[in-house]
Amino acid sequence: ESVPAVIVAIDGPSGTGKSSTSKAVAAQLGLSYLDTGAQYRAITWWMVTNGIDIDDPSAIADAAGKPEIVSGTDPERPTITVDGTDVSAPIRTQEVTARVSAVSAVPEVRTRITELQRSLAAAAERGIVVEGRDIGTTVLPDADLKIFLTASPEARAARRSGELKGADVNATREALIKRDAADSGRKTSPLAKADDAVEVDTTELTLQQVIECVVTLVEEKRAAK
Ligand code: DC
Repeated sequence: ESVPAVIVAIDGPSGTGKSSTSKAVAAQLGLSYLDTGAQYRAITWWMVTNGIDIDDPSAIADAAGKPEIVSGTDPERPTITVDGTDVSAPIRTQEVTARVSAVSAVPEVRTRITELQRSLAAAAERGIVVEGRDIGTTVLPDADLKIFLTASPEARAARRSGELKGADVNATREALIKRDAADSGRKTSPLAKADDAVEVDTTELTLQQVIECVVTLVEEKRAAK
């Protein structure tokens, strides 16, 4: 029997369990997976590595088309390369994290990355889970299911500093709040909940509970198609 392709958009700020949830849901349901934050991190890594002035939006705009960014969409083994180099590790450094909001606010960067995202979604035969900040609002406004994950700032900082292996919780919370404000306040497709998104507050939920909740919502949508 053939299962109709299903497009799932998962948005929200950092530390809400977006990546862990999206990967697990995709793996469980046999869907492709795309981490759009990794794409913005990859283009930021390229800008930093090539000495582009991050404080100069026109320099970023001019360079936006230069790096070739390729995302692998297997949820069990997500990969990302820039001009053929695997950048999975270097895109997670503090240096890149501190600069990604500035780079991703530049419209030319967003246009470029959004095109990549739409073509990957269109190519996913069984469907795809796409996680980010503007997926339900801008990238895939016709997604079959839109989820908006939230959590208290305390819960988000605690989760992030756990991931960063012993990083200071207060410093992590400050950095996270600053990045969310930049991502929510920018002009071009800011972090926002789509009107038709289902909001899930994960503060009091385990990762397993969030995954089950989203899997159920996807299965309902698939059954209705
Ligand atoms: O999810 P993440 O922390 O890896 O995302 C890194 C940054 O990329 C985040 O600060 C905002 C930006 N981003 C974006 O602007 N739009 C997206 N769809 C995904 C991420």
